[in-house]
Formats: sequence, structure tokens, C-alpha cells
Amino acid sequence: MIKRKDILKIAIDSPAAAGAGTLAKAISKHYNLMYLDTGKIYRYIAYLKIKHPKKFGYKFISSKINSLKIVDLSNKNLLSNEVGIEASIIAKQKKIRKLVHYFQLNFAYNPPKKYKGSCLDGRDITYNIIPDADFKFYITANIKTRALRRYKELKNLKKKISYSEVLKSIKKRDKSDLNRKISPLKKTKDSLLINTTKLNKRACFLKIKKIIDRNINKINGNL
Ligand code: C5P
Repeated sequence: MIKRKDILKIAIDSPAAAGAGTLAKAISKHYNLMYLDTGKIYRYIAYLKIKHPKKFGYKFISSKINSLKIVDLSNKNLLSNEVGIEASIIAKQKKIRKLVHYFQLNFAYNPPKKYKGSCLDGRDITYNIIPDADFKFYITANIKTRALRRYKELKNLKKKISYSEVLKSIKKRDKSDLNRKISPLKKTKDSLLINTTKLNKRACFLKIKKIIDRNINKINGNL
């Protein structure tokens, strides 16, 4: 695999609906980084499982992942609660994680030349996918805030779901993501904790930007 040496790499891990995606997008735009929401890859596989239950198997998924394009991940169907729950179930499988691994590595270390680097968010990015990232963040918020944010997002998408259902499924996913044996969600010692419970989007962005700007000169010198 080609690894670009001159790039800035940002790794973010977070539990569901903590605001990591919104922040990562804003940071990527500001620093001209290519952004990947890695949860979308697991959601894509989960969606394929729900849509094609009879075809679902290693060969089928492997061919889909080998030809995976970023545009496939913008499918609105991937955002449903049902797909999110299924994603956290299939994400426990070693075979599935192995299939997705290379796609993420290539994205992280070899973004197209027009980008100055990459920014990935997920559950195992800081210690498994980009252990040598220039910046590592663990973004979280309290569970009720996260559930409310996700509930509002799903309502905007006209999904029929109650707040308590959303809360229940986020609790279930947290439990599974934190306790699974393979690549569990965890905050590494070298990740900076950002709690977004009481911060709006702009305040979160500025907090992270301040940390990056303070250290970026040191990093640029090493690139
Ligand atoms: O980030 P999002 O909530 O969309 O992710 C859906 C599911 O995909 C998560 O609950 C988690 O189980 C799985 N996932 C993962 N590793 C990642 C990203 C997501 O296991 N890097």
C-alpha cells in the first residue's frame, strides 16, 4: 500500500451520536482533509444484509467492499436505526472487520493529492487504523443528549421512531461496542477527551481547532 508521508492524519473515536461526525466534517473542511465516517462502511454492510439476506455471505460482501465507492456511503437508507443496530452486530465479526480494514488504511494514508491529509472517525481509529495519527480525539456526550440528538436527526429524515426507542438502541449499541472482544470502543491514553454535552457545534469546532493550531507547526516541521 502506498503511504503518503507529507500528510496530516486525524483520528477520532466516539460512541454513537456524540457529534463526532459533524465535528470531523467541519475540521476536515477547515484543514482540507479527506473525511471518512467509518461507521458508514459497517452500516453499508448491514444494509446489504437486510436488503439481500439470501445473498449475504463472505464472497458477496467481499466483492461489494472491493468495489466500494465513497458515493455508496451517502445512501440515506444507511442512516436508519434498524441499520445502525445491525451494523453493531456485524461489526463484532473478525472477518467483516478484516475486509473493511484495507479500505480504511488506504483512505487514511493515501488520500488524493488535492487533500492535505485525512480525518477518520469510528470506534477503533485511534489505536487500530491510524495508531500514528498526528491528533487523536475521543468525543463523547452524556447518553440522554446523544439520544436526543439522534432522535432529532431521525425525525428530520421523517423516520417513525420515539425518543425512548432511540435511547434504548443507543444504550444497546454502546454496550456492544464497548464490551466486544474485537476492536472495542475505548479511549486511548494519547487521545484528548472532548465532551460535547454542553457545547454547541461551533464551540466544539473551536475547541478542537485551538488544540490543532497550537500544535500544527510542530507537526508541519516533521512532515
Ligand atoms: O458510527 P455509527 O454509529 O454510524 O456506526 C455504526 C456501528 O458500526 C457502530 O455501532 C459500531 O458497532 C460499528 N463501527 C465499528 N467500528 C468503527 C465504526 C463503526 O465497529 N470504526
